[in-house]
Amino acid sequence: MCGIVGYLGHREAYPIIVKGLKRLEYRGYDSAGIALYDGNDIKLSKTKGKVADLEVRVESEISTNGSLGIGHTRWATHGVPNDVNSHPHYSNSGELVIIHNGIIENYEALKKELTKRGYTFKSDTDTEVLINLIEDVKNKENVKLGKAVQIALNQVIGAYAIAVFDKNKPDEIVVARLGSPLAIGIGEDEFFIASDASPFIEFTNNAIYLEDEEMAIVRRHKGVKIRKIHDDSLVAPYVQELQLNLEEIEKGGYEHFMLKEIYEQPRAIMDTFRGRLLTDEAIIKMAGVEDNMKKFLNANRIIVVACGTSWHAGLVAEYIFEDLARIPVEVEYASEFRYRNPVITENDVLIAISQSGETADTLAAIKMAKSKGAFVFGVCNVVGSSIARETDAGAYTHAGPEIGVASTKAFTTQITVLTLMALRLARAKGTISSSDYRKYLFELESIPSKVEKALSSDNHVKMIANIYKNASNCLYLGRGFNFPVALEGALKLKEISYIHAEGYPAAEMKHGPIALIDEQMPVVVIATKKGHYEKVVSNIQEIKSRKGKIIGIVTEGDTSVKELADHVIEVPETIEALTPLLTTIPLQLLSYHIAVMLEKNVDQPRNLAKSVTVE
Ligand code: AGP
Ligand code: GLU
Repeated sequence: MCGIVGYLGHREAYPIIVKGLKRLEYRGYDSAGIALYDGNDIKLSKTKGKVADLEVRVESEISTNGSLGIGHTRWATHGVPNDVNSHPHYSNSGELVIIHNGIIENYEALKKELTKRGYTFKSDTDTEVLINLIEDVKNKENVKLGKAVQIALNQVIGAYAIAVFDKNKPDEIVVARLGSPLAIGIGEDEFFIASDASPFIEFTNNAIYLEDEEMAIVRRHKGVKIRKIHDDSLVAPYVQELQLNLEEIEKGGYEHFMLKEIYEQPRAIMDTFRGRLLTDEAIIKMAGVEDNMKKFLNANRIIVVACGTSWHAGLVAEYIFEDLARIPVEVEYASEFRYRNPVITENDVLIAISQSGETADTLAAIKMAKSKGAFVFGVCNVVGSSIARETDAGAYTHAGPEIGVASTKAFTTQITVLTLMALRLARAKGTISSSDYRKYLFELESIPSKVEKALSSDNHVKMIANIYKNASNCLYLGRGFNFPVALEGALKLKEISYIHAEGYPAAEMKHGPIALIDEQMPVVVIATKKGHYEKVVSNIQEIKSRKGKIIGIVTEGDTSVKELADHVIEVPETIEALTPLLTTIPLQLLSYHIAVMLEKNVDQPRNLAKSVTVE
């Protein structure tokens, strides 16, 4: 998710932390805050908005002296972006402070328990629960901060990178990580904590990267002690000498944000599952759906409104909702829907999909539908965004900030949320058997590792990209659940390489587009085993007989398409309705490599904006 920075050493912490937070601004965020130990007490200041807003706030609120401090840029997951929900968070006693990146999945149960023990909460965040759990353990077990953190984290389910300090022990910072990155910069008798090395690379290039399930106690003048969270066993610190420059660090070592975000998809999908896909109990838990179950079950139809890639995710949802939950769905371009005076009644449910949560056409469509009595559910990636605030309920994707203009991890996490919704509604309607439901849940759980496997074909895709990088046109074909993926693949190629591309239902070829086929026309065909396979194979034969160049996206182990196509790219087998989560991966990589080979501005393609807030 977002950014953490900490300092413990012989210099003033404040300027180092603020500059470090600015170094992390590229990650996107909605709030910022800082806590300093001034030699006597903790001084804390935080605000919704930018680091620059925090600086203004600090000037009027706190003194900035002290050589121990922690700072945070927030990407909200629990609790809208506002001052109170910003980090750092105090424990009830005011003696402990924490900053946190990630999601505590079981925070509600922990909060309930702590409330019973008299703890109170100022914010709506999961993070404030964690710092009070640590305090509760520290007091009950009468242990030091490090041990309290270790015991508390063994009660936590979720993802975290945290930094905590105790005003009564101002010579140490305790850090821990599971699922969110955390680096410790080792300077001359000074230590830096950060989400990546960009905040401290100018001071030192010696760094320890904590591994998952590791925690560390960083002590002034004494150094770093690393332990395993689950059994408190010691871990020998491995200090790396970094050779990366600032820009390389920001992109996590990837050449572009788009490639970094393509590779983040396994984690982004996993984060989107957190607290929602509970396979052990064979349940899906989505508050926004549970609280409005009647609306969904009594709906005449679901109308999806979105733009661009989000509209493609909506098309996938149409197939999945109708197939599993047997609820009629229609998918509308928000820009068309808002102006065509559609027939909407209070028995309609509108699902608005938007990564940014700020797309003007989608926002306008929502307002229009609400004025006609529809119930509106939002699927957004930005907590507290305009669309999120305008809808009656919603479910966030937890993709983290998407910096690249071309949407990638937003698409797969949108499909993840929509699939969870369709399954939950199918269960409630009884349109899916218990055994099929469980099969879907377990298969969904395996998707992140299957996305990882699909990513492993990157070099093969790059070889294919090199062959077709100078094409002037390209066709993308798919059927069923993968027809929207064909559209999305075409959009990706268009928007970052500027090569004209069109997505089509494979069967539509004979109704016109086949006239385009010749040896100059590469045709990407999604031909996974599950999904009208035989019919797609015959479409491939039609193309081949007209000398079209065929790139087949196939299920691993496929042999038939391999004989027909010029190239095949394999993806792991999965349930047909889940194939879009895998087949989109090679198409993202194909467009990325072609654009890089054509030396295009991959992260900021010409004429495009990340969020289209105008009509
Ligand atoms: C996708 O790669 C594009 N950047 C664009 O089509 C985008 O999906 C569209 O503008 C919708 O944005 P939103 O999801 O933020 O509403
Ligand atoms: N889940 C925490 C919150 O919503 C941390 C979010 C983040 O990673 O910035 O405050």
